[in-house]
Amino acid sequence: MTYSITKAEQEIQSRREGLNLRWYPRYHLAARAGWMNDPNGLVWFDGWYHAFYQHHPYSTQWGPMHWGHARSKDLVHWEHLPVALAPEGPDDKDGCFSGSAVVDGDTLALIYTGHKFHGDPGDEANLYQVQCLATSRDGIHFVRHGTVIDTPPGLHHFRDPKVWREGEWWYMVVGAREGDTGQVRAYLSADLREWQDRGVLAVAEKEMGYMWECPDFFTLNGKRVLMFSPQGLAADGFKNRNLFQSGYLVGEWQPGQPFVREGEFVEMDYGHDFYAPQSFLTPDGRRIVIGWLDMWESPLPEQEDGWAGMLSLPRELTLSADNHLQMHPAREVETLRGAWFPWPITTLNNQQMTLVEHCDAMEVTLQWDCANSSAEQYGIRLGDGLRIYVDVQMQRLVLERHYPQYGLCGTRSVALNLNDMLNLRLFFDSSSVEVFINEGEACLSSRIYPDADGRELALFAWAGGASLIHGGAWQL
Ligand code: FRU
Repeated sequence: MTYSITKAEQEIQSRREGLNLRWYPRYHLAARAGWMNDPNGLVWFDGWYHAFYQHHPYSTQWGPMHWGHARSKDLVHWEHLPVALAPEGPDDKDGCFSGSAVVDGDTLALIYTGHKFHGDPGDEANLYQVQCLATSRDGIHFVRHGTVIDTPPGLHHFRDPKVWREGEWWYMVVGAREGDTGQVRAYLSADLREWQDRGVLAVAEKEMGYMWECPDFFTLNGKRVLMFSPQGLAADGFKNRNLFQSGYLVGEWQPGQPFVREGEFVEMDYGHDFYAPQSFLTPDGRRIVIGWLDMWESPLPEQEDGWAGMLSLPRELTLSADNHLQMHPAREVETLRGAWFPWPITTLNNQQMTLVEHCDAMEVTLQWDCANSSAEQYGIRLGDGLRIYVDVQMQRLVLERHYPQYGLCGTRSVALNLNDMLNLRLFFDSSSVEVFINEGEACLSSRIYPDADGRELALFAWAGGASLIHGGAWQL
């Protein structure tokens, strides 16, 4: 099959008519139809935020990757644009894989991975991944310029370029796999076309993964943050529960110097579904991150509805004094707020209390006085499928989803200090929940699949009492 943007657009238009929208997001970005994975090329250009994404318009499964495209004035209301890149070859004939965008004067430049097999695609020895360039003046139509960095000798997995400007130079980090070890490689350029190889920036220590995907490298609070998505980490107690992780290392770096890390790899989000995050800067200097709100090889029940995959909310990143990355919903998210429903301020005692009969697009805030709550479990539930609660014996905040009909059951959790107040901000959409704990200390994000009549929102406290000292919800 040969691919083109025209064909992709025709396909999407015809598929849109058949969509079932029961789980389609109300305020998150998802493809118009077909498959979506990683966010790509997040950038501010000429008065608009642009979000591109890995996209397969021809089915609800992953396939030869295109770049879907949308733009927004405010990071929350998105306008779909035509597909930006199709795997038209020769450099990207089997897929336009993930990458980033930069503004070069009056030009928007996309730097992405050309994915191609020479010969039998079943054999990894035939796999080549090269870094490619495409440019646009209007931010909608792109000219593809082909390969700017060829596959380094001996490597096959070499993808997901992230480019940024520092002083007079363009810098790039690329994820790679050498043997069974993940790494991040660095490059330098004056013009985005000729790139100098600057060697390996960071490499996986023992058991830190066979491949590092989607690297990103930026400064926060005077430190350098290397954010990436490693494959091949073993689950370890409450850590690394998903098939693949996304997380970060903090350290020091100067151009031309090695990256000196301080501390361990830390996960970005402890829910079931957060992967391949990418960051960008707003015109007023905030560092925002958006991730794919899904996980490889996890069931996606919306596939039967004609679409698959969605992106997370935009989240502002800050770094605490102890080098902890914190994520807050970008303040633009507050512009979605409609009617406010205050909750009764109360102590719940071995009881459940319905708050909303039908919760779909809502932001919920809750403040629990943990020091004055004795219940073994207390929190909030959505129908029978989702509970987000404090487990006092475990001293953890638990997100439990239970959709056995779709093969999606299980818990994710984060440690809590139960001597403190617990502040939660929860964002519900048709098939997702994102939980922000204590102003960004930790996040839990998961896909959820309630039935239309299973969206009742209720508070509960079992085996004792729980003291709610503030709470309410905005319709979004
Ligand atoms: C991450 C990833 C990237 C790759 C893309 C392919 O989710 O595997 O490494 O470029 O997805 O769609």
